Amino acid sequence: MRIADFALERYFARWEFAVEHLLCASDVQGYAMADLLALADDETRGLWDGLTLGYTESTGHPLLRREIASLYDGVDAEDVLVFAGAEEAIFCLVNVTMGPGDHAIVTWPGYQSLYEVARATGAEVTLHELHEADGWALDLARLRAQVTPSTRLIVVNAPHNPTGMLPDRATFDGLVAIAEEAGATLVVDEVYRELEFDPTCRLPAAVEASSRGVSVGVMSKSYAMAGLRIGWLASHDRDLLARCAAFKDYTTICSSAPAEILALIGLRARDVVLARSRGIVEANLQRLDAFFEDWGDRFTWVRPRAGSIGFPRLTAPGVDIDTWAASLVEAEGVLLLPGSQFGVGGNHFRIGFGRTDLPVALDRLEAFAERTLR
Ligand SMILES: Cc1ncc(COP(=O)(O)O)c(C=O)c1O
Repeated sequence: MRIADFALERYFARWEFAVEHLLCASDVQGYAMADLLALADDETRGLWDGLTLGYTESTGHPLLRREIASLYDGVDAEDVLVFAGAEEAIFCLVNVTMGPGDHAIVTWPGYQSLYEVARATGAEVTLHELHEADGWALDLARLRAQVTPSTRLIVVNAPHNPTGMLPDRATFDGLVAIAEEAGATLVVDEVYRELEFDPTCRLPAAVEASSRGVSVGVMSKSYAMAGLRIGWLASHDRDLLARCAAFKDYTTICSSAPAEILALIGLRARDVVLARSRGIVEANLQRLDAFFEDWGDRFTWVRPRAGSIGFPRLTAPGVDIDTWAASLVEAEGVLLLPGSQFGVGGNHFRIGFGRTDLPVALDRLEAFAERTLR
């Protein structure tokens, strides 16, 4: 298999552990191990204390699958397959569904593996481009026109990386209908689900909305535990899950035994875990709102509706975001992610607001902006 470099990951490989402030991270501030263990109930504490480090069940620990299933309405443990992160889930799913002659429609800009893996299988990929002028919304008429007789997958990431877009309910229902009419599998990458700023705007999960829907989930973002590397697929299409499980025999075979138990603890205590994450992102979002209001003549800001990231644009005349971000990290140790890493022009950049150092990072960014953009 030949696959293009994952531009964003190459950028992070260079910077992530070398800068003081990651003002473009997509995850929420990692949970402390001790804090997580303090949330264990008697059963999970016993599992943790008695853990042996053998191989685990390839489909995922039965209790973990059951706990993941309980995140959704009408989903059983057998409808869930556990992976090493959402990344492995996407890799396996796309590999078993796509190949030469197949077609996928994928939202763009976006998380590169959602379209790059499909391309690497030899399939044809049509990008469903989102535009700032539309508030980054899906365009159902255009999406419908993108469907071909070979369309196997419609892949949408919502809440969306990097824009924080979340479709409204009518748009989501329209999307489900288009996928069903096309006979395509609707895959929704829902890794930022549960971080809706207005909880009444939370959408049904793909697995709840359609018998052929596939939900992609992970512990990394809303659940603040990226280091566990635990993700999953949830779908009623058990044949599809079985094919993914068979493919996984060539990637990781099974998940990390300690990570599975820790994920189980985290999901059982999800009310506490999610309240912490929401507290962090909502406080940070207010800081960002204030910043972008003050700097409205230098940046655009389409306020995210969910998640931990947004995709503003630098509008200061004659200033290029790649150059400005490079100077910012040099001068202040604050990292932004220029849109060029997503293949997007127009001076956009991703800003992340899931980390607790955001106030300090934003102060530094503002001081730099005072010196360079006024
Ligand atoms: C939309 C989206 N999907 C999937 C992933 C992969 O998550 P993980 O790295 O935890 O597997 C990410 C991570 O940034 C993401 O933003």
